[in-house]
Amino acid sequence: MSKKSTILKWVIPVILMSTLLIILVAAIKVPHTQYVPQLNCDCPPGFKLNDKNECIAQNLYMAYSTNNDPGVGGLKTALPKVRDGFSPQQIDLGRYLFFDPILSGDGTISCASCHDPKKGFSDGLATSIGFKGHQLKRSAPSLWNVAYFKLFFWDGRANSLEEQMQGPLFSKEEMGNTPEKLLKTINSLNNYKHLFAEAFPNKVKEAPISLNDIYTAITAFEASLISLNSKYDRYAHGYHQALNKQEIEGMNIFRSFVARCAECHTPPLFTNQQIAVLGTPEPNGLALDPGAEIPFNDSTLRGGFKVPSLRNIEKTAPYMHSGNFATLKETVQFYTDGRGHAVPKDENLRIHWHIWEPKLTDYELDRLVDFLKTLTDESFMPKVPKVLPSNQAAFINNQNQESIK
Ligand code: HEC
Ligand code: HEC
Repeated sequence: MSKKSTILKWVIPVILMSTLLIILVAAIKVPHTQYVPQLNCDCPPGFKLNDKNECIAQNLYMAYSTNNDPGVGGLKTALPKVRDGFSPQQIDLGRYLFFDPILSGDGTISCASCHDPKKGFSDGLATSIGFKGHQLKRSAPSLWNVAYFKLFFWDGRANSLEEQMQGPLFSKEEMGNTPEKLLKTINSLNNYKHLFAEAFPNKVKEAPISLNDIYTAITAFEASLISLNSKYDRYAHGYHQALNKQEIEGMNIFRSFVARCAECHTPPLFTNQQIAVLGTPEPNGLALDPGAEIPFNDSTLRGGFKVPSLRNIEKTAPYMHSGNFATLKETVQFYTDGRGHAVPKDENLRIHWHIWEPKLTDYELDRLVDFLKTLTDESFMPKVPKVLPSNQAAFINNQNQESIK
């Protein structure tokens, strides 16, 4: 065999084969180092896509005409106006952002750190822990059904989801970021640039991601967290076997003018969205939280808080604005322990007229708890992304790693 034919027969094929192998290995490796996510083109459950690519909320309460303004709380009452009309792509992009710790100043905290899907989008703590271990003064509320809320935060100081989220994002105590730094980080990530272009197709080509785009996407995701298919809802729509005898007893106590729960926790949202002064205690002798007095600059609202919705309440212990009560039984017990019994002596709070002395028996308190547990429904639970566009793992609940399992 000549020298030339040896080269042709052996050396060239070997070079060719190894080049091919290198290309192959590189191709396999790409998804690991450069994961490129795809946005969902379908609406989440509970929404219907219209011909403008908008997800419109659908539920049985739409069949009823009266809404749950104060004083109305019949079982067949409509819901307040909903925030819907976001595109499937915006909702899905918001889902990624919600779980992504790159939104925080040092890449360690995501919205889900304090709003863990497995804990009713709360965090299981009496008061949340934020940036660099900072202990917050209030507890993280659930995010189910926020699409129907008019006021946000325990003291009602924000009027929209977009306004609300600027609190945690840019607070030194929560996520420790700044608008400039957030924009710089997100605009430096190719995956996010592609996804925002897909979710906001009407923007000028190559325009940078803006803060409003970020707020819109996260709002779209939050507004998709709908919980309206509980045992209670099936009962309310006429399926009477959905609740057992004890749960129905509890519902009747809840709606009675003795207990008066439904005056404030008005169905079907289980909040009338008002601020009410209850005189709830702070844990460990902490000073009274002035609540709504501060944002509304109104001393009659001192110690007042937004009436929380009670949907999925079973999942979000401990309870009240600073998590003073560990269980639902302790929480409902509060209402029967006497008007103003927990108010510090030097305070003169304007306690709401529906907070009085209903003298509920232990049996009735247990039935109330039975009823509250019929408000659980997590059937529209969103999927936690396994890998994020920033190539990080979704970050949930920094205090309790076991929830990531
Ligand atoms: C460090 C913990 C923490 C992080 C991180 C956090 N939150 Fe919260 N969130 C809270 C606490 C605590 C409150 C209540 C604060 C108050 O009322 O003063 C709250 C309130 C809210 C509310 C108001 C709900 C209601 O019923 O009024 C919404 C909505 C919300 N957070 C969404 C978000 C979003 C979106 C993010 C991410 C951009 C986020 N949160 C990040 C702890 C956190
Ligand atoms: C006057 C209005 C009003 C009435 C009546 C009322 N609540 Fe409340 N409820 C509130 C407010 C406001 C809060 C939040 C108070 C706080 O955090 O300090 C609350 C909190 C709660 C919580 C804890 C929610 C959470 O997310 O931590 C439960 C459970 C609850 N109420 C159940 C009931 C039951 C059961 C009754 C009837 C026995 C009742 N409520 C009557 C206004 C009311």
